Amino acid sequence: MPKIDIKSLEKRAEKEIKNSKNLKDLDGVYKKYLDKKGELSKVLRSLKKLPEVKRTKLGKKANELKVYLKKIIEQKSKKLKEISRKQVYEKEWIDITIPARKPVLGHLHPLTQVKREMEEIFQLMGFSVIEGPEMETEWYNFDALNIPKDHPARDLWDTFYLKNRLLLRTHTSPVQIRYMEKNNPPFRIIVPGRIFRHEATDAYHEFNFYQLEGLMLDKQVSAANFKAIIEEFYRRFFKKSVKIRMRPSYFPFVEPGFEIDMTCTVCLGKGCPACGKTGWQEMMGAGMVHPNVLKNSGLNPKNWQGFAFGMGVERLVMMKYKINDIRFLYKNDLRFLKQF
Ligand code: DAH
Repeated sequence: MPKIDIKSLEKRAEKEIKNSKNLKDLDGVYKKYLDKKGELSKVLRSLKKLPEVKRTKLGKKANELKVYLKKIIEQKSKKLKEISRKQVYEKEWIDITIPARKPVLGHLHPLTQVKREMEEIFQLMGFSVIEGPEMETEWYNFDALNIPKDHPARDLWDTFYLKNRLLLRTHTSPVQIRYMEKNNPPFRIIVPGRIFRHEATDAYHEFNFYQLEGLMLDKQVSAANFKAIIEEFYRRFFKKSVKIRMRPSYFPFVEPGFEIDMTCTVCLGKGCPACGKTGWQEMMGAGMVHPNVLKNSGLNPKNWQGFAFGMGVERLVMMKYKINDIRFLYKNDLRFLKQF
């Protein structure tokens, strides 16, 4: 029977409890002394082999020690928990008085801004905004617009052909036909939209860009009406008193057809490098809707007449913001886009 030294067991346990740096250490100490297989439990179990007197005395001491150790472990555990809670508070402390970080807000692309501005001006003049498909049939993109098969006029539009005789629309004009098929005049519509051309890019050409088509039909609509509306549109858009002039031109879907020039916004007509010293800038194609186009849409040319026009949207963006290369509009370069 080895000598049972309660005193030294107490000293050792006390010291180890005191030195415990965290709850895991402390748990280790508990197991070492107080678990079923712990040192103190062994002592208590061995008591029954002792003579009665000794047993009572030692038993009392051992039991007191057990209560005592449990108590100081409990106290130490509280202390350690308190410390670790404080550490967490310090580490995860949040200053709720700091002003919140502002979300980064973008803005509309200059092309979209201008497109919306154009729509608004036309809407104020009684035009409705209409859309059409970007994937078209040859019928709507060419035939119905009075552009005969194999006619050299088709070369005016460099076309991306798709499978099943479909194509990417080369202009917004096919939407004229689609609208006339389903709606009875009188009406005024504009059709902003994306179009595609199979051609090389340079400072003034992209293989995809935006057009804004216009169509006004009624019993009596004249080229003079067209001139008044378009001049008013440009005046409102550029906020300058500009003039337009109409030159004869050819487009198969109109007769007569015109090319529209506007007072150069840079020199206001005096003549400068931007307008090639002419004082005018070319703005769009237009004309009086061809009788064949009305017929192809199911309308009687004897009852209805009107004008149509088609202008490039990028052109206006570039003039408005003095941008000298169309490709900037499609690069998604934030250094460029943030300026608008
Ligand atoms: N669709 C023509 C083009 O893309 C532009 C155009 C010219 C539209 C005359 C018209 C028009 O409505 O009357 O080149």
